[in-house]
Amino acid sequence: MVVSARIEASEIGRDILKKGGNAFDAMIATELALAVAYPYAGNIGGGGFMVYRKANGTIGALDYREKAPLAATKNMYLDEFNKVIPEKSTLGAFAIGVPGTIAGIFAVHEKFGSLSFKDILKPVIALAYKGVIVTQKQEKRIKDYQPLFLKVNKDSILFDKPWKANDTIKYPALAKTLERISKHGKDGFYKGETAKILAQFIQDNGGIITEEDLAKYQAIWRDPITFNYDDLKIISMAPPSSGGICLAQMMKMIEPFPIDEFGHNSVKTIQVITEAERRSYADRSYFLGDPDFVDIPKKHLISSKYAKQRMEDFSFKRATLSSDVSHGDIQITESDETTHYSIIDQYGNAIAATTTLNGAFGSKLYCSELGFFLNNEMDDFSSKPGTPNMFGLIGAEANSIAPEKRMLSSMTPTIVEKNGALYMSVGTPGGSTIITSVLQTILNVHEHKMSMQEAVNAPRFHHQWLPDVIFMEPNAFDANLIGELESLGYNTNEERSPVIGKVDGILVLNDKSYEAGADHRGDDAAAGF
Ligand code: DON
Repeated sequence: MVVSARIEASEIGRDILKKGGNAFDAMIATELALAVAYPYAGNIGGGGFMVYRKANGTIGALDYREKAPLAATKNMYLDEFNKVIPEKSTLGAFAIGVPGTIAGIFAVHEKFGSLSFKDILKPVIALAYKGVIVTQKQEKRIKDYQPLFLKVNKDSILFDKPWKANDTIKYPALAKTLERISKHGKDGFYKGETAKILAQFIQDNGGIITEEDLAKYQAIWRDPITFNYDDLKIISMAPPSSGGICLAQMMKMIEPFPIDEFGHNSVKTIQVITEAERRSYADRSYFLGDPDFVDIPKKHLISSKYAKQRMEDFSFKRATLSSDVSHGDIQITESDETTHYSIIDQYGNAIAATTTLNGAFGSKLYCSELGFFLNNEMDDFSSKPGTPNMFGLIGAEANSIAPEKRMLSSMTPTIVEKNGALYMSVGTPGGSTIITSVLQTILNVHEHKMSMQEAVNAPRFHHQWLPDVIFMEPNAFDANLIGELESLGYNTNEERSPVIGKVDGILVLNDKSYEAGADHRGDDAAAGF
């Protein structure tokens, strides 16, 4: 079974499985099919993370996150008065991190692929030539972002046209780029013609990425973050994503409370989850960054003892104020290194992968010759300590910019075991809200006994320490409940986030059947056999 942001991508992945391919072959096909069918976030100009659990129980994680170019500097987004220059890290060529997606899929293929790369790519290239039908939601998205496409791109691009639902967009330039990758492997992107065109294009548009940056990029295998919650074992992404550590912290803080008895989205459950999120996001902003550049006290941060300490000042009588919460006090320093889709194959292998351009259509800069958008992942660094990025996240030294450093992420591709057996694969987009969306989905299934689809559908809320607000999906929470939370000292906001996350997941029901949850908040869809 494959569940992703577009039915075309899920079906291509499913067909690879049907041909006898494994979850890793299907991952490569799905990742690239999303680059064709879902240019909003699917990409070859971005990066991501993948967590896996093989049928034999072995686990691992792949980091194909973008990294800062060699010419990047700590203060590259600040003006002469030391102020962050608006839009410099979000729009156009200067915002681009060195893309990691193509290195990621080749790392996967090298280690676990069972079909030939050419065979895996064939249906993806065919889709790019044949074209993809525009959905209602896509029509709106393209229209919403056209002013920015015009602002960023010197020449007219494919997406400037007045595309309407049911039109077919064909992607011949992207098909040609994919053909070069199919023929020359990883070097078909990071070296030779593609690299030359790409580096030149980025520099012509004011960026600093060079052919050397592209040639040097490597995906990195990481040990996932693992922890227990009741009879579950959670396997999630390690730094440079904050996802696994924050998910572990939150779940450890929540575990002592009987939230199944409190009830789904009841005042008390919302309080416990909010307070856990508040404390974890405060730690995120201080401690987390690229583990190849900073020491992260990982074991301490995810321990039950530390979680208990962090929640000692919580009371059901009154909201904790974020202004009273800072990062936890940890003296020990350890130096141990440390659009979502889910796939489970017929052999029992599972993957969870989250991939991104960061913002919608990334930096909005589209390379017409190569046929793809480039990311604006540099905004995930902390341009200046204390100044929020586009997700309102605040960072510190641990996530400052340095050449070749990876920017901190919130992406949380996650696999769950129950009593030692595969149970779930889950993840979501949503910037800073990713971690809480994954958390609430797992809790919905485990604590509130929902099906996978119900767990995905259920209304979500989010707190990220600063600003000190519970963001809630609009028209989904009862006015009395919101009133009660306000009277306990919580600030709530239903306007800022029309949707929180677009979660896709697969739940293992038994040996023979899986249940998909595909988020109706997007065009997400599952395909299985
Ligand atoms: O890595 C991160 O945390 C962000 N770049 C993710 C961006 C994202 O989810 C955008 N989707 N809404």
